[in-house]
Amino acid sequence: MFKLKISVLAVAGILCTASANSADLHPVNTVVTSIPWMNTSLTADQRADLVLKEMTQDEKLKLVFGHFGSELAWKNLKMHPAAIPHSAGYVEGVPRLGIPAQFETDAGVGVATQGSGPTARERTSLSSGMSTAASWNQKLAFKSGAMIGAEARASGFNVMLAGGVNLMREPRNGRNFEYAGEDPLLAGTIVAAQINGIQSNHVISTLKHYAVNSQETGRFTLNAKIDDASARMSDLLAMQIAIEKSDPGSVMCSYNRLNGVYACENDYLLNQVLKADWGYHGYVMSDWGATHSTVAAANNGLDQESGWEFDASPYFSGALKEAVTNGAVPQARLDNMLKRILRTMFDKGLFDYPVPKDNTIDFAAHALVSQYGAEEGMVLLKNDANVLPLHKDLKKIAIIGSHADVGVLSGGGSSQVYPIGGNAVKGLEPAAWPGPVVYHPSSPLKAIQRYMPQAQISYDTGTDIKAATALAAQSDIVLVFATQWIGEANDAVSLSLPSNQDALITALAAANKKTVVVLETGGPVTMPWINQVASVLEAWYPGTSGGEAIARVLVGEVNPSGHLPVSFAASESQLPRPVLDGDPAKPDQRFDVSYHEGATIGYKWFDAKGLKPLFAFGHGLSYTKFAYSGFSSKYINNTMQVKFTVTNTGKVAGKDVPQVYVSPTAGKWEAPKRLVAWDKVELLPGESKSVSLNVDLRLLGMYDSKTKTWQINAAAYKVILARSAGDSDAASITVNLPASSLNVLGKKIK
Ligand code: BGC
Repeated sequence: MFKLKISVLAVAGILCTASANSADLHPVNTVVTSIPWMNTSLTADQRADLVLKEMTQDEKLKLVFGHFGSELAWKNLKMHPAAIPHSAGYVEGVPRLGIPAQFETDAGVGVATQGSGPTARERTSLSSGMSTAASWNQKLAFKSGAMIGAEARASGFNVMLAGGVNLMREPRNGRNFEYAGEDPLLAGTIVAAQINGIQSNHVISTLKHYAVNSQETGRFTLNAKIDDASARMSDLLAMQIAIEKSDPGSVMCSYNRLNGVYACENDYLLNQVLKADWGYHGYVMSDWGATHSTVAAANNGLDQESGWEFDASPYFSGALKEAVTNGAVPQARLDNMLKRILRTMFDKGLFDYPVPKDNTIDFAAHALVSQYGAEEGMVLLKNDANVLPLHKDLKKIAIIGSHADVGVLSGGGSSQVYPIGGNAVKGLEPAAWPGPVVYHPSSPLKAIQRYMPQAQISYDTGTDIKAATALAAQSDIVLVFATQWIGEANDAVSLSLPSNQDALITALAAANKKTVVVLETGGPVTMPWINQVASVLEAWYPGTSGGEAIARVLVGEVNPSGHLPVSFAASESQLPRPVLDGDPAKPDQRFDVSYHEGATIGYKWFDAKGLKPLFAFGHGLSYTKFAYSGFSSKYINNTMQVKFTVTNTGKVAGKDVPQVYVSPTAGKWEAPKRLVAWDKVELLPGESKSVSLNVDLRLLGMYDSKTKTWQINAAAYKVILARSAGDSDAASITVNLPASSLNVLGKKIK
């Protein structure tokens, strides 16, 4: 057996202080260079094979078995002593062989802390995943990912449970804010950019939650029913695109069942689609509490049990050892789990770039990254009579509601990032999981006051509608802030704003025509007052610099350029499921959710049913105007190209999001049109830029389950250059495509 020299043993596993606070004390692994698998001229595969050969069975079992990084009080379980306190997870390493431990942290908006209290890690939070998707800006998503990945690494973590790409099938889903909207191309592309950013720090990123994990009600038990072709053209396509564009080190299988089988023991999802069809070579980790068996899970493709304390039993510990011994799980399967985990650790740099001892975080610089993301994700939904940007001569401004005097809202659950400076609004319900409700201490009011020093700004809590209305009536303009808190395990009960906020906004709009609504919501909400108010700005959950970002958009320091990554329904009756399936009061209830809409999600559903949403997917206003010219499209060398020029015809600089949709004139798709490409173009007044885009041919075909191919019909296709999915004035041209077949990965075979 291979043995490291004493000197090497001495450096592996030393303790060090990991920056900002004492909660970060943890063991750090040190690079060992004198051993065969540390030879960086070898491939990750070769290195993994070399170290795997040296491992004992017990050592192998350590790497497939994850611990929770925090106490589990309700089970009376203490955290693993080597885990980073209040973190998501810990997987032991093998110091004898220099194999680093895995330190896992949530999640997509930054470095989270499990539970709050005096030990919360204070870190930078990005705006929500929905907001990043609303930027339609891949470079920004990369930079945002790079920033939170850097904070993860500086906090001692080498695995970040980030890259949430579940499509929004259910606008009331409590986790929509963690995800990237309703379109497979947009969501997959933006999340891929974020993962690339995270992984640029030698941190493994985890794409989640695989798959069709679309609501929180009944999340541990519900059975998502959907056919293969529909899934491949929607939820799975988003995952596939994200994997192809970013090669995430791991994929997290979800809580729900899919067509009767739990996702983490689902041969179809894990072995057939992910590993065989897509050729994924990373590892599959379970969600915390999503492992339900040893033999079925192992043989059907699960590579690592996470947070075993949440499961009914430590399935991948002694039971797995026994299952391998008695042949129920082949040794080759265990070795393949290890190969996947080790290969990924080599490939992403966990061996070569151990988490550092000296890890300061440049919080000031990171605050700006968060701010830019929040600014670019904000969507100006309505702006009558150019009420925004706020006119410099305004004298009396009323700011009303949602604690806009002190902070901005964030979403709850495992992704919760605790801000520097602490929660701006303490004591709100729910105080316990998936709470506490956290307001980042970035005050919109104070920031607006800084940009509008001449104005007299008054704040009213909005709890007494009469008092708020009186203030509104005597103000030049009203900025009413409205919030909707959602979180993991906690779907919105309806699409309406909670806590009587619709009544408040209606009353304010009646008192003052210049009423501007600023929304801080996890996803879409209904707006019964939309015709009465002047403007609406969707700010989502805007992160730790959110107050500043909101102010800068309202005053025109920043020209809004976000576009909706989801459709906003006019009412629940327009949804595929007007009433959410399941009963939130009965979390153990087993029930089916039939995704009868198949791949017809979001704008595709609205188009197919001839419904007019409140705001269409892709919609977003600007303080300037853009014109399109020179629009052309052709199919050449098995590629569909689209070209056009965008001109800023207004008076201020801005960023446009031209969107290309395709619609077949013959043959049936799941919907009249699909988004096939877009760009984000920054332009000074009067400036023009030409744009050239190529279309992923899968988006022009229908998936055929029998042959595992994408079939493109010979037909004329309308190529549409639009400002949103609801753009009735969009220019279109027709392109003829020959019949062709693409393999499952989208490569042309015929
Ligand atoms: C969530 C995951 C998260 C994990 C670890 C689970 O409850 O579903 O998204 O990564 O906890 O905190």
